[in-house]
Amino acid sequence: MGDHPCAPSLTPARWPISTGAIPLPSLSIRDGGCAKLSQRAPGKRALDIGCGPGFLACELAAEVAPGGRIVAIDASSHSVETTATRAEARGLAGLVKVQTGDAASLGFPDETFDFVVATQVYCYVSDVGRAIREAARVLRRGGRLVVLDTDWDFCAWASSDPAFTRRMVAARGAKQFAHAHLPRELHRLFLGAGLTLADAQVFSMIETRYDPDSFGIESIQGTCSDCITLHSVAARRGRH
Ligand SMILES: C[S@@+](CC[C@H](N)C(=O)[O-])C[C@H]1O[C@@H](n2cnc3c(N)ncnc32)[C@H](O)[C@@H]1O
Repeated sequence: MGDHPCAPSLTPARWPISTGAIPLPSLSIRDGGCAKLSQRAPGKRALDIGCGPGFLACELAAEVAPGGRIVAIDASSHSVETTATRAEARGLAGLVKVQTGDAASLGFPDETFDFVVATQVYCYVSDVGRAIREAARVLRRGGRLVVLDTDWDFCAWASSDPAFTRRMVAARGAKQFAHAHLPRELHRLFLGAGLTLADAQVFSMIETRYDPDSFGIESIQGTCSDCITLHSVAARRGRH
C-alpha cells in the first residue's frame, strides 16, 4: 500500500487531560505489580495520582486498612466524582479521600505519603520531570513511587498492513499523549528527582477477542476514529 492520504496530514495536538477514564477491568494486571512495588500495608498513607475511575484507589484502600488512607487525585472532576462514587459504593469512603489536583503541582506538604502511584497518567503530563519531582517531594524518606506507563512503539495489532498500522499508532500517540514513549525516559527522570530505581518490570497484554471493554480494542477504536476524523479534516482542506 502506498502513502495513505491521512497520515502525513496529522497535526500533533496534545490533550493534557483526558476527558474519559478507562473503565477497563483488564488493566487490573497492573495491580499485581503495584502491590509488590509499593510495599503497601495496613496503616500506610498513599497517593494515587490521576486516579481515573478509581479501580486502583479502591483496591489499595483495602490493603492499607485499618488506619491507612488513600488520597486519590485527578485533574478531571468527572474522574473525581466517579472515584468517589466507587469508593462510597464499596464502603470505602472513610479510607479514600478524593479531590481534584494536578500531578505537576501537588498540594501536599513534603513527606506526606508512604507510597505514591501513578498509572497511565504521566504520559499526559507535559512537564513530566516536574511531576516526578513533585511525587518525590511528597514521599517520606524510604517511601516508594510506582509509575506504570505505556511505550506505544510496542503496540502491535493483527493487521494486513503492519507498516500503515504503525503509522496510525504513531500518529495517535503524537496526538493524544505528551509522552507516547515515556517508559524509556523514566529512569533518567527518577534520577533527576533524587530517586533510586528499586525495580523495573514489563507487563504485556494480549487481547484475543474483540471485547469493547478491553484496553486493546479501546485503543484500536480510538486510533481509527482519530485517523478518520483527521483524514476528513485534511480532505475538506484539500490536503490529500
Ligand atoms: C488513562 S487515565 C488512567 C486512570 C487510572 N490511573 C488508571 O490507571 O486506571 C489518565 C487519568 O489521568 C488524569 N490526568 C491527566 N493529566 C493529569 C494531571 N496533570 N494531573 C492529574 N491527573 C491527570 C486524567 O484525567 C485521567 O483520569
